[in-house]
Amino acid sequence: MILVPAIPVTVELKVIVNCAMSADGKIALRTRKQTRISNEADRRRVHRLRNSADAILVGIETVLSDDPKLTVNTKYVSRPRHPLRIVLDSNGRTPKNAQVLNGASRTLIVTNDKCKKKFPNAEVIRCGTREIDLKRLMKVLDKMGVKSLLVEGGSKVIWSFLDSRTADEVNIFIGSMVIGGEVSPTPAGGLGAPDEKSVVALQLKSVKALGNGVLVSYKVVK
Ligand SMILES: NC(=O)c1ccc[n+]([C@@H]2O[C@H](COP(=O)([O-])OP(=O)(O)OC[C@H]3O[C@@H](n4cnc5c(N)ncnc54)[C@H](OP(=O)(O)O)[C@@H]3O)[C@@H](O)[C@H]2O)c1
Repeated sequence: MILVPAIPVTVELKVIVNCAMSADGKIALRTRKQTRISNEADRRRVHRLRNSADAILVGIETVLSDDPKLTVNTKYVSRPRHPLRIVLDSNGRTPKNAQVLNGASRTLIVTNDKCKKKFPNAEVIRCGTREIDLKRLMKVLDKMGVKSLLVEGGSKVIWSFLDSRTADEVNIFIGSMVIGGEVSPTPAGGLGAPDEKSVVALQLKSVKALGNGVLVSYKVVK
């Protein structure tokens, strides 16, 4: 287990946020359970994007609600590189039988400095006093040789990456369906911007039809 000190270092790491939302801007059902939003063309794109990244990251609530494998499917990439899987999990709540702990590729559980938990088939990094300190984590990952990070959610984690201006790019696939509901999660949850000057500005890069959906890509203005 590594206790990470707060040292100032220049970070070269590129961070891409990717998520799929419905036409009404929801990323899951009101129960926070996953529902299929991506189409086949988007799944192909996402698995190729995963394969081009050095690491894929999600928050613990996504692990608890969706139990994702976070691997690259050989249906879309014949010889996958198997990027590092990362879970932001301050208090070590990742279940021992979670798919991210299945040993199919390397996994890093990131906890806070107080957490002492260990996990099968995973390394643990402590990085933060309460929640995970993203700036500190980026320095650690950069030192580990991670030069591209794909952030796949969920809602709170995406907001943290945007709010801290840690994300460089955002890709949103808009599926052709309506999920509805006031409490269904949106791409960026958390606390949200408290005032106009805190809103995260984006620069539109491209808009592309993908099957029956649309892929919108932005650069984060810093
Ligand atoms: N459609 C899509 O593309 C897509 C993709 C992924 C997920 N989802 C959906 O997203 C939902 C889950 O999102 P969520 O917002 O509930 O949870 P989440 O973003 O997956 O995880 C949030 C949790 O991560 C931990 N965390 C640690 N450090 C953090 C930091 N610096 N910033 C933010 N979180 C940090 C916190 O728990 P601790 O305090 O316990 O550490 C926090 O509550 C599910 O409904 C899932 O289906 C949709």
